Amino acid sequence: MSASHIENVAMIGAGTLGGQIAWHSAYMGKQVTVYDISEEGLKKCRAAHAGYAAIYSADLNASEDDIAATHSRLTFTTDLAEAAQNADLVIEAVPEVPDIKIDVYQKLATIMPEETILATNSSTLLPSMFAAETGRPDRFGALHFANMIWALNIAEIMGAPETSDDTLTRLTAYAVEIGMVPIPISREQNGYVCNSLLVPLLQAAQSLVTKGVADHETVDRTYMIMNRGCTMGPCGIMDMVGMGTLHEIFTYWGTQLSDQEMLTNAEYIQSHFLNTGRMGLLAGQGYYDYPNPTYQQPGFLDVPDKSAVPALAAKAKLS
Ligand SMILES: NC(=O)c1ccc[n+]([C@@H]2O[C@H](COP(=O)([O-])OP(=O)(O)OC[C@H]3O[C@@H](n4cnc5c(N)ncnc54)[C@H](O)[C@@H]3O)[C@@H](O)[C@H]2O)c1
Repeated sequence: MSASHIENVAMIGAGTLGGQIAWHSAYMGKQVTVYDISEEGLKKCRAAHAGYAAIYSADLNASEDDIAATHSRLTFTTDLAEAAQNADLVIEAVPEVPDIKIDVYQKLATIMPEETILATNSSTLLPSMFAAETGRPDRFGALHFANMIWALNIAEIMGAPETSDDTLTRLTAYAVEIGMVPIPISREQNGYVCNSLLVPLLQAAQSLVTKGVADHETVDRTYMIMNRGCTMGPCGIMDMVGMGTLHEIFTYWGTQLSDQEMLTNAEYIQSHFLNTGRMGLLAGQGYYDYPNPTYQQPGFLDVPDKSAVPALAAKAKLS
């Protein structure tokens, strides 16, 4: 038995992050049942897993046996009771919308075994907003992973005041067991460390695009030159996060903070991305087209040829 006493995991929500957490946990030896509200969600998750298999083989030297074993530890269901009934740990990664999360917690409360720990992967919401709804406030906390879990291997652990020491210990042990660097959060903070840094960056980048100050490639090129060695800029990161989740974050926090700039950015994302199906990297289209987005192509950060001057000068003309 592992230190965390967590062998069976239920992943609730099979989208961008749920799919990654489920795959990575299974790769690291845990039994994972993936639940989504729709068959379509599970289908997309399986397709994403095929992509992760290729990435883990290429980047992590995963063998064919490792990949086969990972697949064998994953099961999929649209039956919430089936997903949660044997779970030592339930990880929730449903949309960043409080009412949806509360609905899921209330349903889970009647299903989960008494000793099961419940964790939220929420990007920006606090465990204390939901502790009472879970029916097990001492066995509930946040366990927050970053997108591209296999490379950006942090797990932020944040409790509510009611979260027990044992729960914090077991969540931390689980993070270590699946190869994460635990990031303990000592006070409740919307966005932990990771998103307290990232969300303002994405908001700033989106505002530059929304206001027509610079196009997305110009924003990313500037960022990537100023932060030499990084592999993408904030608009590339937005594609990776997914436009749906970004829209939820900007809408929720724009409303909460009466932040008109954030709400305007949410409207931009709605009209330019959600309404056109450009949902981000997993969908193959967002700010960039995938695979081979322009920011990964040779020359993106180079001094341009002289022939590029007229087009660049035209972009510098005030509109
Ligand atoms: N995308 C990121 O980069 C990222 C990073 C860290 C944390 N998160 C957080 O993870 C959570 C999920 O984000 P995401 O980007 O994976 O979202 P997503 O939109 O990609 O996926 C959400 C999934 O939940 C499913 N779903 C919707 N309602 C449901 C319900 N009632 N029960 C079960 N499943 C339901 C959807 O079908 C979808 O498959 C959010 O809280 C988000 O803030 C996201």
